[in-house]
Amino acid sequence: MIRRPRRNRQNEVIRNMVQETSLTLNDFIFPLFIIEGQNKRVEVASMPGINRFSIDTLLEEIDSCVNLGVKAFAPFASIPDQLKDKYASESHNPDGLYARAIREVKKNFPEVVLMTDVAMDPYSSDGHDGIVENGEILNDETLEVLGKMALIQAQAGADIVGPSDMMDGRVAHIRKVLDGNGYHKVGIMSYTAKYASAFYGPFRDALDSAPKKGDKKTYQMNPANSREALVEAELDTAEGADFLMVKPALAYLDIIKALHESSHLPIAAYNVSGEYAMVKAAAEKGWLDGEKAMLESLLSIKRAGADVILSYFAKEYAQSLKK
Ligand code: PBG
Repeated sequence: MIRRPRRNRQNEVIRNMVQETSLTLNDFIFPLFIIEGQNKRVEVASMPGINRFSIDTLLEEIDSCVNLGVKAFAPFASIPDQLKDKYASESHNPDGLYARAIREVKKNFPEVVLMTDVAMDPYSSDGHDGIVENGEILNDETLEVLGKMALIQAQAGADIVGPSDMMDGRVAHIRKVLDGNGYHKVGIMSYTAKYASAFYGPFRDALDSAPKKGDKKTYQMNPANSREALVEAELDTAEGADFLMVKPALAYLDIIKALHESSHLPIAAYNVSGEYAMVKAAAEKGWLDGEKAMLESLLSIKRAGADVILSYFAKEYAQSLKK
């Protein structure tokens, strides 16, 4: 045998020398859930270790993350039912929970990067990402709401807005609204290939945002399709997106790779709530080593071609580096 691949695996120094992919803390965005109130830290039952924070404890959480080296965050707000309506009006309230939280975080931590979520579902009484009329999700009418929402977030201090709604034409519309109001520096990380996935369940528990009727299949993508992701990528690029995102991550590594190969924009991947919950649940049962499973999952997302990883594991990853 002339070729013996095991020669390059024989000790740790050589293994590290030939390692093709590495994670760094620079790769991560940490999603955080916000609730109204004071001194609250309420664990999400289906996401052990992940809490919903009131603004005061959110600041403490960000402080502890910053000390660990996590520098970018993706906040999501949990809105009480009485503030939800058909048009998600609360989503563009400049004094609403979300805008207040963004302002407080940027005031206390001007150096952190905030990527905010642009979608109606946490504010919609229908639990959908668009305006519902006679069971149909209205596209162009929804764009108006998304534009207002993105503007309020930019005014509050968002660095990047993340449209996660999957309406057609939203990137172009949001870009136009931001630029028209002087926010040309605010970036757009588009949820380019967002699939109609079963892996969002725990997130919908955290925000109580599940659709009241029907599913999201008329706007989120069919898990069977990959070429359609390239169509979405072409559109988002033409419409002015600064990053393209694939969501979920682990069941869609081929999509991450396809976008990485076909686009010159940075590619993000969202390691979603259900992916986090699966690892945690198996680890709790002692069925696998949670830390190793976490590191392997995150590494494979990077290997597939993600430059940026949104993950509920971001803080735990940072803690694992300190050990
Ligand atoms: C909705 C939104 C969802 C997630 C982020 N934004 C859920 C959905 O589409 O129902 C899911 C994230 C996760 O599961 O971690 N705009």
